[in-house]
Amino acid sequence: MEIERDQHISPPSLLAQTIPIIDLSNLDEELVARLVVQASEEWGIFHVVNHGIPLDLIRRLKEVGTQFFELPETEKKSVAKQDGSKDFEGYTTNLKYVEGEVWTENLFHRIWPPSCINFNYWPKNPPHYREVIEEYTEDTKKLSERILGYLSEGLGLPREALIQGLGGESTEYVMRINNYPPDTKPDLTLGVPEHTDIIGITIIITNEVPGLQIFKDDRWFDVHYIPSAITVNIGDQIMRLSNGKYKNVLHRAIVDKEKQRMSWPVFVDANPDVVIGPLPELITCSNPSKFKPITCKDFKYRRLLKLPIE
Ligand code: SIN
Ligand code: FE2
Repeated sequence: MEIERDQHISPPSLLAQTIPIIDLSNLDEELVARLVVQASEEWGIFHVVNHGIPLDLIRRLKEVGTQFFELPETEKKSVAKQDGSKDFEGYTTNLKYVEGEVWTENLFHRIWPPSCINFNYWPKNPPHYREVIEEYTEDTKKLSERILGYLSEGLGLPREALIQGLGGESTEYVMRINNYPPDTKPDLTLGVPEHTDIIGITIIITNEVPGLQIFKDDRWFDVHYIPSAITVNIGDQIMRLSNGKYKNVLHRAIVDKEKQRMSWPVFVDANPDVVIGPLPELITCSNPSKFKPITCKDFKYRRLLKLPIE
C-alpha cells in the first residue's frame, strides 16, 4: 500500500536547511536586523548580498591575491612568517604531501588599526597590493560595524555595544588569503580542519570553487558559492560577549580535486588586552553568565594549547 505523504509534515528541516542569504539593501532595516540576528542564533553563518562593497573592488582583491600566489616561491618567502616568531603574520606554506596534514598556503597580516600594521608582511608585488587592501579594509570595517550593530541591537543594547566589547577603535582587523591548489590524492584532504573561529566575526570572500563546510544538526553542510555574496561567520568572541545567544559556527575547508580554491577571510578580532566575557548588561537572574571573563590574549593562548576555558 502506498503511503500518502503529507507535504506539510514531510521533513520541513530539509527544505529550510540552507544557509540564510540576507539582502542588505532591503529598505526595511528592522527586517534586515532581525534576519541577521536570527541567522546568527540558528546558524552562526550567513551570506550577505548587496552589501555595499563594490564588486570591482572584490575583483581587484581577488586579482592581487591570485597574483601573489603565482609568484616564485623565493619571492613569496620575502614576506614569510618568521621562524620561531610567536606572532602569526606572514606567508606560510603547507604544500608538501604529509599524511594527515593540511594542503594550503596562506598569507596573514593585520590591516587595522594603523598602529598595528607591519608592512614588512604586505607583499610589494603585485605593486598595487597595498592600495587594494587599504581600500578593501575601509569597506570591510564599515560592513563589520553594521553587522555588529544589528547584533548589538538584537541583544537589546545600543548599536556600539559589541564593537566596544571587542575594543572599540583598537579592535584589530586581520587579512588572511588562503590558496588551496587542486589536490589529486584519493582521500578527502582538508585545507583547514574543523574549528570555530577564535575571533569576533569573519567576513569571507571566496573564488567560485566551493569547499567551505559547516556543521549543524549533526551533519556537514556545503556552503554554496554565491556570486557577489560575502559570507559572515560568528566566532568565539561574539558567542562569549553575547552570553551564548549567537552561535560560533563549527566549520572546515576541503580541497577540490581539480580546481584551485581561494578564500579571503578578514577576521574582526578583539584587542589582546580586552576582557572577553558576557556583556554585563546581559546578565540577570534568569540569564546567568555562561562564561568566565578572560583577556583576549589568555583566551587565545589557552585555545591554541587546547587548555580548558570556562
Ligand atoms: C577557514 O575557516 O579558515 C577557511 C575558510 C575558507 O577557506 O573558506
Ligand atoms: Fe575559520
